[in-house]
Amino acid sequence: MAWTPLFLLLLWGSFSFTLQDMAAPRYNISLDLPPEQRWKEILSHYNQTYLKEKMDFIVQNGLPKWARAIIFPLAEFDLIFLVKEPYAGELRGIARTLGFNVGYVLALNLVYEATAYCTSIIAQDTKGNIYHGRNLDYAFPDILKNLTLDLDFIQNGKIVYTGTTFLGYVGLWTGQSPNKFTVSGDARAKGKWWENAISAFFKRSSPVSWLVRDALHNARDFRDAALQLSKTPIIADTYYIMGGTQAREGLVITRNRDGPADLWPLDPQKGEWFRVETNYDHWTPPPPSDDRRTPAIKALNATGQANINAISLYKVGFIFFL
Ligand SMILES: *[C@@H]1O[C@H](CO)[C@@H](O)[C@H](O)[C@H]1NC(C)=O
Ligand SMILES: *[C@@H]1O[C@H](CO)[C@@H](O)[C@H](O)[C@H]1NC(C)=O
Ligand SMILES: *[C@@H]1O[C@H](CO)[C@@H](O)[C@H](O)[C@H]1NC(C)=O
Ligand SMILES: *[C@@H]1O[C@H](CO)[C@@H](O)[C@H](O)[C@H]1NC(C)=O
Repeated sequence: MAWTPLFLLLLWGSFSFTLQDMAAPRYNISLDLPPEQRWKEILSHYNQTYLKEKMDFIVQNGLPKWARAIIFPLAEFDLIFLVKEPYAGELRGIARTLGFNVGYVLALNLVYEATAYCTSIIAQDTKGNIYHGRNLDYAFPDILKNLTLDLDFIQNGKIVYTGTTFLGYVGLWTGQSPNKFTVSGDARAKGKWWENAISAFFKRSSPVSWLVRDALHNARDFRDAALQLSKTPIIADTYYIMGGTQAREGLVITRNRDGPADLWPLDPQKGEWFRVETNYDHWTPPPPSDDRRTPAIKALNATGQANINAISLYKVGFIFFL
């Protein structure tokens, strides 16, 4: 799988760090609008013929062959009644604007949900500042590069949370709630993803990326978010990587669908000032064919806690593009 040249840093305050030539477009999305209307303005900035072509390609090619038999009925029959608000309304609005069946947009969202292979890093410098970086590695890097966007979710004139996503996808794998916490999600590769996810979806468990958005919206603070992200039933195993505003607020949550499998906090007093999570349980060695963990750890060791900052963490991210 090719790496998408996108490495995001989640930082506190109004400071936002991106390299100019890689910066994704940034839009406001108003939570004061009814869900059906929220995406319309953003979609109007894009060539909709192009968008429809690319979304069609992703749905047609993103599903394992046998899974089409399960997923396409979702598109044919209107199963939106299974979806809670605001996601149902947002999916309906996107479908209406683009002239798709709403089930098709739901299928597109499930394809995105299934293909998040990434690396997340959380680190604490010697002064106690927390840095959180992630890259995105998706199945269709050339297309998704063009569909990546940063969103500020606005309510009553204020940014409630910020996230990075792909056009047409209503969930978030990356986000921050100002002065509360940052979060990224990495897929936890296990067999039978589609069967398990679809059966859990029918039981109304949350897609992994919707829980991220819910936590960004609702959580009072880092602890509350950690609790929500640990306990709420989701449709697939995953890793949630979190950063907070205080020293030691860094955590990797290994999730089973029903609850937490493991919590792995930063432990700077023991010299464990960073955590690297790719797509394998931290207590097992990654397969040699896909070891992104060791190079990241080597680069962080070489950087050193005294030298870690937004720029140096970004450079650690670059090792993935070589
Ligand atoms: C919009 O995208 C379609 C399909 O990719 C392309 O054929 C068309 O020229 C584009 N229109 C504009 C105005 O760029
Ligand atoms: C992405 O967008 C650029 C600029 O609009 C275009 O040249 C390129 O063909 C697009 N790539 C894909 C895979 O659609
Ligand atoms: C986005 O919303 C914020 C907060 O209301 C506002 O300050 C900013 O100007 C808005 N940006 C755009 C591009 O509309
Ligand atoms: C990174 O540094 C730690 C602490 O010195 C050491 O235990 C570990 O083996 C190093 N890992 C790599 C991959 O260099």
